[in-house]
Amino acid sequence: MDTIRGKFLKQHLLSDEFLDLIEKNKRPMDELMSYYQCAIMEVETKFKVLNQEYSLEYDRNPIEGIKTRVKSYDSILRKIRRKNIPMTLEGIEENIRDIAGVRVICSFPDDIYELAESFLRQDDITLIERKDYIKNPKESGYRSLHLIVQVPIFLQNTKKLVYVEVQFRTIAMDFWASLEHKLQYKKNIPESQAKLLKDELYDCAQQSAALDKRMQNIRNVIAESETKEEE
Ligand code: GTP
Ligand code: MG
Repeated sequence: MDTIRGKFLKQHLLSDEFLDLIEKNKRPMDELMSYYQCAIMEVETKFKVLNQEYSLEYDRNPIEGIKTRVKSYDSILRKIRRKNIPMTLEGIEENIRDIAGVRVICSFPDDIYELAESFLRQDDITLIERKDYIKNPKESGYRSLHLIVQVPIFLQNTKKLVYVEVQFRTIAMDFWASLEHKLQYKKNIPESQAKLLKDELYDCAQQSAALDKRMQNIRNVIAESETKEEE
């Protein structure tokens, strides 16, 4: 093994087999990754358009921010191992459906459902899977609405359907998830203390959910008085 290859392997925790796959299929692998980037652009634009329309029609922006990412090779490899996915380009493309990720941070919980429905009504979007961790939060306390969709990207001669994972969260949901994710890296904690911290984090998630409800209620009251004024 030459030193550059060795260094790369060590830095990225990539297996020989995975590195071979990337090296032998450099061009198709680069193409595949660029399709994910294109699909992200398509989806991000759709949300920017919806935000613009809300802004004109209702004079408010339901989207606080959009974050996007293409999954790194390290994470792709970890998922291949965790889920026993065939180490081929087709295996990756068909089984790892969150390589392209778009996170939409909304102002209020109701905005999440309104935006998700508007997005899913678009006739080029195909819903593959929906996980509502807002109605059914995870054991950790995690809340978010996850959609796996297929979006077409148009190339010179062909159309390609690409999987994208869209996560919708309020600012409060994102605040909790971001900090909880950071804290997960601190692993060298005695078990008894870890359990206490887990409970504490769960409680924080409950509090953030309660805060979302209160802010939503305030918004509803204001919206109601606005409609009365208009009548
Ligand atoms: P993956 O193989 O991890 O994608 O499993 P899955 O397909 O069952 O994923 P799921 O849709 O349940 O959630 C995956 C993503 O949601 C993660 O990559 C995180 O971004 C987020 N997520 C899920 N659970 C938690 C959690 O407990 N805490 C935080 N901070 N994020 C979470
Ligand atoms: Mg996932």
